[in-house]
Amino acid sequence: MIRTRLTSLLGLKLPIIQGGLAYLARAELAAAVSNAGGLGQITATTLDGPAELEREISRARSLTEKPFAVNFALGHRPIDDLLATALHAKVPIISLTGGNPAPYADRIIAAGAKLMVLVAGVRAAKKAESVGASVVIGVGVEGGGHLGRDDIGTMVLARRLIDAVGVPVVASGGIGDGRQLAAALALGAEGVEMGTRFVATQECVAHARYKEALLNHDIHETRVIERSLGRPGRVLPSPHVDAILEREAASASVGELLPYISGQRNFDAAVEGRIEDGFAWAGQVIGLIHDIPRVADLMHRLEQEAKSAYAVLGSAFDAAADEP
Ligand SMILES: Cc1cc2nc3c(=O)[nH]c(=O)nc-3n(C[C@H](O)[C@H](O)[C@H](O)COP(=O)(O)O)c2cc1C
Repeated sequence: MIRTRLTSLLGLKLPIIQGGLAYLARAELAAAVSNAGGLGQITATTLDGPAELEREISRARSLTEKPFAVNFALGHRPIDDLLATALHAKVPIISLTGGNPAPYADRIIAAGAKLMVLVAGVRAAKKAESVGASVVIGVGVEGGGHLGRDDIGTMVLARRLIDAVGVPVVASGGIGDGRQLAAALALGAEGVEMGTRFVATQECVAHARYKEALLNHDIHETRVIERSLGRPGRVLPSPHVDAILEREAASASVGELLPYISGQRNFDAAVEGRIEDGFAWAGQVIGLIHDIPRVADLMHRLEQEAKSAYAVLGSAFDAAADEP
């Protein structure tokens, strides 16, 4: 167990949140993370619709008695019907990312759910707190998937957010091991969120070729697409990604880019394994990922690594104190 305000607030044993993952954050992964003491999430916005979300929630409940969240990435499709389904099912925690939480916050809070909002800057964090968010997750430019536009690294962003808001801050982006968890807690964050690291687990439905690619690429090899559209996102390299970047460099319009950046192209790469024909989100943390463990083993390792980092630091400070 590692206790912080986040774990007390959400009923967790470990301050570790599995990030929303388009097409990949399904019931089995969410339940495995929650069973291991963290907070799993089901991503609603890439499911077929409310009926499928209802099935995913029931399935997660058949796999765990622990709390889990439902994640909504804003700006892709209207979410009212999906959100109504999650609130009707009494999901205790809802996360919103990639847009303005204000239109949904009151409904979520009135239904008795806690609201977590993913932000990439101080202004958005303050806004999230002002509309009633219980948790602010700050994602830095190292992260996989959609990022903020300001290219702020996780270490600086998390530190600033802790001063800016009173609610617990969770550090996200580039985190994949327990030493980084300990570093985030040392900064004053109350937990971490990880996306890419959870893709490379047994319980994630990502295609085996995608998981292998996460292991085979290094820290400097990710690419950022969709910057020309004002919504940058970090991906694995592929010929298809080169084609997107060439078109963006040539000032292609949204309409021209759409066939290359559609959800279908993401699905083709992430779930069908056709990495060359599509794009697969991934963060710089791929340079720290060397295996595809079961979630329970990964979570145990993260806890042990964080605890030994704390012990090493403690003895460094103690030794310094003993010096004349
Ligand atoms: C494959 C993948 C898909 C993602 N899809 C979503 C999503 O649907 N909704 C969302 O809120 N965030 C999404 N993200 C962002 C993550 O929730 C998380 O903020 C990010 O992965 C953190 O950086 P990391 O990958 O370095 O851990 C995605 C990230 C990845 C890697």
